Amino acid sequence: MLDIKIEKTKEPKIHPKEDDPLAFGTIFTDHMFIMDYTYGQGWHDARIVPYQPLMLDPAAMVFHYGQEMFEGMKAYYGVDGSTLLFRPEKNAQRANHTCHRLCMPNIEELDYIQAIKALVKVDESWVPTKEGTSLYIRPYMIATEPRLGVRPSQTYHFVIILSPVGAYYPEGLDPVKIWVEENYIRAANGGIGEAKTGGNYVASMKAQEEAAKYGYSQVLWLDAKEKKYVEEVGAMNIFFKIGETIITPQLTGSILPGVTRDTCISLCKEWGYTVEERRISIGELEMAAKEGTLKEVWGTGTAAVISPVGELNIHHHPLKVADGEIGELSQRLYDTVTAIQLGKIEDVHGWVLKV
Ligand code: COI
Repeated sequence: MLDIKIEKTKEPKIHPKEDDPLAFGTIFTDHMFIMDYTYGQGWHDARIVPYQPLMLDPAAMVFHYGQEMFEGMKAYYGVDGSTLLFRPEKNAQRANHTCHRLCMPNIEELDYIQAIKALVKVDESWVPTKEGTSLYIRPYMIATEPRLGVRPSQTYHFVIILSPVGAYYPEGLDPVKIWVEENYIRAANGGIGEAKTGGNYVASMKAQEEAAKYGYSQVLWLDAKEKKYVEEVGAMNIFFKIGETIITPQLTGSILPGVTRDTCISLCKEWGYTVEERRISIGELEMAAKEGTLKEVWGTGTAAVISPVGELNIHHHPLKVADGEIGELSQRLYDTVTAIQLGKIEDVHGWVLKV
């Protein structure tokens, strides 16, 4: 259990108006959580303070060797007016998995959730109420020791910031167009692809920039070895409905284990679908499209929720999916996942936590 000191701001910011469009991650709330880690001492000085710049030594190791972990979660304005979190323990577990891979210290699951709840409580008035909005929670850890030798840092900051958000993609729930990337790769087996760390995201930017020139909002990554099997989209995991079977790439070590991915797998199984977590090649997708059995494609992610895909561009050939419309199952998943998150339907899985 953390002993969290709270210092409230004397200069509260103006909240966005209910009808202001909330671009993803551009507005930040009044407060932030921060605690420090020192090797031999552990985590200490947990505090909630007014939102402010961090003071870091220019030699802090995060700047040089990228030792950092980040997470993404959301707080929702529930139908009964309470503030709800979705599967926070899953995020805590994944954060620790990333920390383990990057030689960073663990945070007790209960402490991680306590810190998030405490900060969201302080800034509860920032949870937006309009449909399709939420308070995005961004916990992250950075290496702060001033040192240029390459080895794990001995000091860290764990920080949480909050941002009221609308849809991640400007398209909202309208289907996105995705570029199947053949030149660049995101991650290889044995690397850090399954860790939630900045390095994986910067690795994706060049390809995304190039795909954007052709009008594609996201890139679908293929495996690093054969450039044949589908991996993930970077900001989301990916699902295919071929015939009545749901297929998503198996977690091989180079793919992020998404919380929404896991949620979708559970729901689809409960609804009677066969769900296969396995390798799926671009050739198999092309064949299914040719035979008319590729029914739907969608991405899943905390920020993106469920994002239908209306077109895949394979080898410079656009392949329309579901006539570019939202598929029936994608819509059902979106409706169900958001209904659970907002407390509109009974939480039979125990996924929702009241702040
Ligand atoms: C999330 O879905 O929360 C993510 O972290 C993806 C992101 C890069 C916005």
